[in-house]
Amino acid sequence: MTSRSLFLLPGDGIGPEAMAEVRKVIAHLNDKHGTDFVTDEGLVGGCAYDACGQAISDADMEKAMAADAVLFGAVGGPKWDPVPYEVRPEAGLLRLRKDMELFANLRPAICYPALAASSSLKPEVVEGLDILIVRELTGGVYFGEPKEIIDLGNGQKRGIDTQVYDTYEIERISAVAFELARTRRNEVCSMEKRNVMKSGVLWNEVVTATHKARFSDVKLSHMLADAGGMQLVRWPKQFDVIVTDNLFGDMLSDVAAMLTGSLGMLPSASLGAPDPKTGKRKALYEPVHGSAPDIAGQGIANPIAMIASFAMCLRYSFDMVAEAERLDAAIATVLGNGLRTGDIMSDGCTKVTTAEMGDAIVAAYAG
Ligand code: NAI
Ligand code: MG
Repeated sequence: MTSRSLFLLPGDGIGPEAMAEVRKVIAHLNDKHGTDFVTDEGLVGGCAYDACGQAISDADMEKAMAADAVLFGAVGGPKWDPVPYEVRPEAGLLRLRKDMELFANLRPAICYPALAASSSLKPEVVEGLDILIVRELTGGVYFGEPKEIIDLGNGQKRGIDTQVYDTYEIERISAVAFELARTRRNEVCSMEKRNVMKSGVLWNEVVTATHKARFSDVKLSHMLADAGGMQLVRWPKQFDVIVTDNLFGDMLSDVAAMLTGSLGMLPSASLGAPDPKTGKRKALYEPVHGSAPDIAGQGIANPIAMIASFAMCLRYSFDMVAEAERLDAAIATVLGNGLRTGDIMSDGCTKVTTAEMGDAIVAAYAG
């Protein structure tokens, strides 16, 4: 069997600190569970700019394209604020998403029982919450043309963004959502605004047709995106998988994420289309948080978002579902034992460093 290749891009700020803890998990899997992960590492973001004047070099970009999966830390920081727009740290992430055609962004919102009491919502509303938002990532209003500011010449200007979706884009994102639902509670809720948007009418039509043709075993419902936002806060447990466009997905996934606590807890996956020959998808896994310059270098960042992103990698890139579940369970165990980094600290718990949290998760995984 060929080995499984991981390309690590730790990035800036707390990115490398969180990635160090994932390395421990990978080493443990290779040493004790006979897996054959091979890792290589590159530069992205500000550190790449310092090294080569680009937010990611062509050589590293090639390695990312060739790897079975990319693990991405975080990029940016005040040091690089003066850097020209084209080579700013975020440009590295945007290039990865674009060149790898990562059109499906998966953001789970899971409420660990030990943290239910620290949610901004009532514990009974979030306890046991396990939803997955599937956001279209390469189309819609973020990329549609025209996209410009026009000077109308009468002292007024006009800002224009255009929401564009083609059938194939809606088909492939809804197929991802339906496939994932089959591995979960088998329910998809599609969100758009067909009441005011033509692209919403098409979205609704294509999701419905895709469901009928290929996924009629999955329970499908539709909701207007604004009502969806309300329902997410009112009773989030009614949802299993939510599929939505780039803009609504950006907002709804942030809302869903915050139901469950700190930024330091939230993983994500971005997937491309399956290769027609091998069936393999290009994929990138990253925590939702940024480089946290305010706490970088102190060894106190929460590594759980990064480790949970690796759990998603095991699940979606390598079909190692049992291992992914075991890693998620290890995180839950450690939280249940009262271990907390500063961002999720509460009364009666034990405050730990980034490295101690990583060690504890590996130990819990080892069982
Ligand atoms: P941020 O996510 O880096 O930090 C926001 C707040 O949450 C900070 O107080 C930080 O200390 C805390 N935080 C975040 N992750 C944490 C963790 N794992 N453990 C403990 N605390 C954590 O967002 P911010 O401050 O808006 O941006 C900082 C830099 O990161 C900027 O340069 C921004 O452009 C960049 N950024 C990069 C992203 C990426 O690489 N995907 C995403 C978001 C921001
Ligand atoms: Mg956002």
